Amino acid sequence: MSGEKRLIVLISGRGSNLRAILDSPIGDAVIAVISDRKDAGGLAIARQYGKEAIDCCREDYPSSAAFEKALAEKIVEYQAGDSPAIIIALAGFMRILSAAFVAAHAGRLVNIHPSLLPKFPGLHTHRQALAANAAVHGCTVHWVSEKVDGGEIIAQRQVPVLPDDNEVTLEKRVLAAEHSLYPQVLAQLLNGGE
Ligand code: GRF
Repeated sequence: MSGEKRLIVLISGRGSNLRAILDSPIGDAVIAVISDRKDAGGLAIARQYGKEAIDCCREDYPSSAAFEKALAEKIVEYQAGDSPAIIIALAGFMRILSAAFVAAHAGRLVNIHPSLLPKFPGLHTHRQALAANAAVHGCTVHWVSEKVDGGEIIAQRQVPVLPDDNEVTLEKRVLAAEHSLYPQVLAQLLNGGE
């Protein structure tokens, strides 16, 4: 187990980055996995690894503010008592968090994005890279700020774009880089470094 800090992972989907984290040396530091979608494949992965798997779905709340309040309350539950500091890792979490939520969790919210930011923020990053004829593509781990995909960059990993690439082949190469980079960076953050 690394450092003093613990990790909460927020997901929305299949959870391959979550699995990479759970398979890495920091897997033991994960204390909970929270999904904003009940059907997220990552919830089953979390349970398979014996982790608390919690759904906190937007549609269960009357407003975004109520949803974020519930999410914050679930996070706080894991900080109760003498539990140590927490890093909240967004891993394919597809919901934009409000400026107020981001400010309340400043310095603890980290995201992985499938491009070399500031290039190709937002969705369909592999399509964007191919359309731009990029020679290199990759992924970025960054602090979450109120500007979507605009927070301070912590680390990046490059991959080549090959002549025959399509979105599927490029995504596969970038995803492999994500699975290597994210656990490494989170391990540094959990151990107090950056
Ligand atoms: C990853 O490419 C991640 O960078 C992006 O969404 C995808 C999530 O994949 N934000 P997974 O759920 O981790 O498999």
